[in-house]
Amino acid sequence: MSLIEQARAIYQEIEAMPVGNKEQLEQFRIRFIGRKGAVEALFEGLKDVAKDDRRAVGQELNTLKNFAHDRFVVFQGQLESADGGVAAPVDLTLPVFPHQLGSIHPLTLARAKIIEIFERMGFSVADGPEIESDWYNFTALNFPENHPAREMQDTFFVEKHPEDGTQDMLLRTHTSNVQIRLMQQQKPPFRAIMPGRVYRNEAISARAHCFFHQVEGLYVDKNVSFKDLKDTLYHFSKEMFSQDVKIRLRPSFFPFTEPSAEIDIWLGTDTEETYRLSKGTGWVEIAGSGMVDPNVLANCGIDPEEYTGFAFGMGVERIAQLRYGVRDLRLYSENDVRFLRQFEGI
Ligand code: DAH
Repeated sequence: MSLIEQARAIYQEIEAMPVGNKEQLEQFRIRFIGRKGAVEALFEGLKDVAKDDRRAVGQELNTLKNFAHDRFVVFQGQLESADGGVAAPVDLTLPVFPHQLGSIHPLTLARAKIIEIFERMGFSVADGPEIESDWYNFTALNFPENHPAREMQDTFFVEKHPEDGTQDMLLRTHTSNVQIRLMQQQKPPFRAIMPGRVYRNEAISARAHCFFHQVEGLYVDKNVSFKDLKDTLYHFSKEMFSQDVKIRLRPSFFPFTEPSAEIDIWLGTDTEETYRLSKGTGWVEIAGSGMVDPNVLANCGIDPEEYTGFAFGMGVERIAQLRYGVRDLRLYSENDVRFLRQFEGI
């Protein structure tokens, strides 16, 4: 048990200890106030705490010590006033112990790490709306009208406003809409990532959720090649997972890229967990990617003869799952402190 955990246990013990007469008051004093008491004993352990943490842990122990002392004074006063003496006043401004500071959510941690890695490669961060028109989410990304590709992503449609029902609105199914907004608003070259929340009409399970997070990436310039795509995502994978990570690019299809590839990383099948995650193949997908389709560039007013580019979209839940060993996607949104507390200090 860490010192803080021991302190918490003693705190609870103090709260639970009944003091109704002089003998109990004396026992309380010996156990929690005395030089050989449980609280003093914790201070002994301070020398074994890592140097960086010592100050913070020491403060917590002092809070506990003051708490025990103040409680003692209150009990003493109560007994004295029962004897006809004067009660010690209760100080309602005393700090509460223990302080619960909370921790950073694993998805926030993973997103921050993704941003950090790409920023070091010269990518900036862009943002776009979650409630989006059909045009930005699908049409501009080269999804043909009434084509089954639109059903690849089970969409939540937003009801048309009775007076302003001119555009079909929906909850974006991916962050790729921000590529379009960025390319429309600015002039090439583009080198940006676009983190955000996306929505799909899926039943919630250990593996799927109706909302999740993606980070989109876009790099458009003169002479951007498929090799640039591969180098960038390989570098990313090394920084995110480990320097000896193995990745593979598996041919795939997306309406907005040609050619398209899914990026897998090698987990192996040594453990039950890696076997399950990789469905027995040893490989697990972390992103979709490809060379931006010339139609998409043209839809944004960029000359595909002059510019080329690559794009990718990665799932933040998946990346956090691999980095932190999260077993069930539902944990991310249930706010169970037993889960969240495991990310304290990471
Ligand atoms: N939008 C795709 C999805 O949600 C992911 C994706 C694939 C994004 C390829 C891209 C890309 O930018 O080039 O499944």
